[in-house]
Amino acid sequence: MADYIDSILKENRVFYPSDEFSRKSYIKNMAQYSKLYKKSIENPEAFWAGIASHIEWFKKWDIVLRNDMGFFKWFEGGYLNACYNCLDRIVKSGRKDKIAYIWEPEKGESKTYTYGHLLKEVCRLANVLKNMGVQRGHVVEIYLPMIPELPIAMLACARIGAIHSVVFAGFSSDALKDRIQDSKAELLITADGSFRNDKVYPLKDNADAALKDCPTINKVIVVKRAGNKIRMAGGRDFWWHELVNEKGIADFCEPESLHAEESLFILYTSGTTGKPKGILHTQAGYLVFVYQTFKWIFDIKDNDIYFCTADIGWITGHSYIVYGPLANGATIIMYEGSPTFPEPDRFWRIVEKHKATIFYTAPTAIRALAKEGDEWPGKCNLSSLRLLGTVGEPINPEAWLWYHRLIGKSKCPIVDTWWQTETGGVLITPLPGATPLKPGSATKPFFGIVADVLREDGSKANVNEGGYLVIRNPWPGMLRTVWNNPDRYRHTYFEKFGVYLTGDTAKIDEDGYFWIMGRVDDVIKVAGHRIGSAEVESSLVSHKDVAEAAVVPFPHDIKGQAIYAFVVLKKGVKKNDALKEELKQHVAQHIGPIAKPDRIQFADDLPKTRSGKIMRRILKSIAEGSTDYGNIMTLAEPSVVEILAKNRVG
Ligand code: WT7
Repeated sequence: MADYIDSILKENRVFYPSDEFSRKSYIKNMAQYSKLYKKSIENPEAFWAGIASHIEWFKKWDIVLRNDMGFFKWFEGGYLNACYNCLDRIVKSGRKDKIAYIWEPEKGESKTYTYGHLLKEVCRLANVLKNMGVQRGHVVEIYLPMIPELPIAMLACARIGAIHSVVFAGFSSDALKDRIQDSKAELLITADGSFRNDKVYPLKDNADAALKDCPTINKVIVVKRAGNKIRMAGGRDFWWHELVNEKGIADFCEPESLHAEESLFILYTSGTTGKPKGILHTQAGYLVFVYQTFKWIFDIKDNDIYFCTADIGWITGHSYIVYGPLANGATIIMYEGSPTFPEPDRFWRIVEKHKATIFYTAPTAIRALAKEGDEWPGKCNLSSLRLLGTVGEPINPEAWLWYHRLIGKSKCPIVDTWWQTETGGVLITPLPGATPLKPGSATKPFFGIVADVLREDGSKANVNEGGYLVIRNPWPGMLRTVWNNPDRYRHTYFEKFGVYLTGDTAKIDEDGYFWIMGRVDDVIKVAGHRIGSAEVESSLVSHKDVAEAAVVPFPHDIKGQAIYAFVVLKKGVKKNDALKEELKQHVAQHIGPIAKPDRIQFADDLPKTRSGKIMRRILKSIAEGSTDYGNIMTLAEPSVVEILAKNRVG
């Protein structure tokens, strides 16, 4: 991280959009941005009401915004349906035959779905769900890989007012179990298996293991994807293709008229302490927000082909592969597999094959693919591209410049979009036709967003002074609460300053540009994925040989950050490499491969305060190879620091 901060501080080049790009874009210059931005924050309710009128309502709202004792409500009194807005509204506007999804499997023929076809598939599944007893307000758990059935399942839930909770297919059975137990879902949609790097992952087996401890689930719908052998439990498990093809399942399903503040979905994400929290998003505000952010940030036009490499199991996929792009009637490329299968040019081959015009990915993917060599993108025709984006973690200027030059051929603006699961959509970002770009900066707040950087005491930080990134005002896409845990919502996000606390540190430069520096809490961004150190620690401690564990990030060339674990073994256990490997596998099995520590150091003791609190700050310095420990005299046993540093794994 330190290297990254050094390099962005030295970075001072500025990149401007071409006149042609600006002329054709929605927001054409900074004067237009500034004028509209001013208007949007002077009267946010009028601003958002104006935008909300672009989607279709069954009944218009009575009140734009209400603060209900710290819980924000948008568009109350309004009724609508998100699925209707994403599909029926587009079909009715004459775009029935426009392609919604181009699905690219890891192996085999790609498949397309028009808006009309997608609507039919969604309606059929919605009817199946209703027949199986799913009702408005019920939770449906979805554990699917990147196959078309995933957005279809989400939209079918949205259509009937069921709340979907998608679990990333790379998570293990324990992670799935935790999420189902917290959400109390009644039905699970999964697949027999998923493909990645030509290997089959046994999703249904994982689900079976999880369901042993999930009594709320009484029905399971299984997509046949990989053809691997699975066990179907009689009376509980049903094949998707059999259900939707049953006689009597109609091609149309009336969309429920849902109140603006009814729940749309829960998505779990990691925090500082304890288990992942269920972030709740509701119908209207979320849809309005992703609709408009997608339109202006990706400057979407009718003939664009938009390719986002994220997995729908994360918020990026929810907002910018499903709801945002569909609500705009966009054509979306959805890719099933690994970026390096069969070779490291897979993304570029997909761009070339489908003539993608907009490409959105994570810095970690850019770094990984850049490392493979310039010849891979060089062999592909990328001339269809006109706009690039990044998300998930800070991008180092070297990766930005490679992306700009090798992929964007120095002509495509790059939107570095800062946001979170909690924010629903992008909050800090360039507008591609307007904002001069500084590599490594997410630039300026989107309309209606008042972002700021504060000191510990709540005062405003100076120009270029690092501090807590906060959002001072509510916005329609913000989380509404933590599922079943309103206290955690209040405590995590509003207790410290009384305004929305992002958990990130940032600075604002002399031009008002935001530079995101990293997390302040114990969240680690491993290859853009959000991992809680507490989760990894409790997984390690659940191993029979482990007495205590502390987990911190360390800088990693490709992943940005990786996990460094200090592990204290139980008395008498032998320290060896085989055990390290076993512990890594244990975490992979417990949470998922993305949470595996890259480095494990066995320790006899951890640095603790006299009251027994582990000093992670010191462990982080050790893991980074820095000797800048700060004050260690408050430790119960200051000498442990030196011993740990001497035995550092690197
Ligand atoms: C955290 C949120 C937003 C969708 C994917 C991640 C980091 C996100 C950027 C960016 C620097 C970024 C922050 C944030 N982050 N985008 N453009 N520049 N950092 O969602 O898993 O909820 O993670 O990702 O640390 O707090 P998430």
